[in-house]
Amino acid sequence: MSGPLLEIKNLTMSFGGLVAIDSLDLSVNTGEIVGLIGPNGAGKTTVFNCISRFYEPDSGTIHFKGRDITRARSHEIIRCGIARTFQNVELCRSMTTLENLLVGQHVVIRSGVIRDGLRLRGVRAEEAQAAARADETIELLGLPPALSSGLARGSRT
Ligand SMILES: Nc1ncnc2c1ncn2[C@@H]1O[C@H](COP(=O)(O)OP(=O)(O)OP(=O)(O)O)[C@@H](O)[C@H]1O
Ligand SMILES: [Mg+2]
Repeated sequence: MSGPLLEIKNLTMSFGGLVAIDSLDLSVNTGEIVGLIGPNGAGKTTVFNCISRFYEPDSGTIHFKGRDITRARSHEIIRCGIARTFQNVELCRSMTTLENLLVGQHVVIRSGVIRDGLRLRGVRAEEAQAAARADETIELLGLPPALSSGLARGSRT
């Protein structure tokens, strides 16, 4: 792929009379880690809301891997491989840590009602892979077996 992985050009977004993003240009190349910094109210979250399509920018363009995603729908954005977290973390408190991590993998799992219902071998393999990835994340981040919020690392049964 030639060109940047993510390319934002001339992005502008207003709320009434307040211009939250004013003609932003931003490029992120493959393998690059980029942080967006600025004071409270500078417009950082609004930029991410435009990329993930929670907001509809007034003007400008957003390209990802060369594809124009400026007007793509949220579910198409996640299929491109773009994921986001929220400033206020929302977890499913009745679920375990492992289950919460599995929810985040829903988009990469191909199972459907019929395949799931039949418990095909491929479905079980996919579930095992997802659980292994979740376990890796738990290890990597050193998540405790039971978080103070009441979340606990669950069994896979
Ligand atoms: N949905 C909205 N409706 C109206 N105004 C909004 C909305 N979202 C953001 N704003 C305004 O846009 C400006 C940028 O807000 P934004 O949340 O993007 O800033 P931020 O850089 O993420 O700030 P913080 O560091 O506090 O998280 C602020 O003035 C905010 O009040
Ligand atoms: Mg913010």
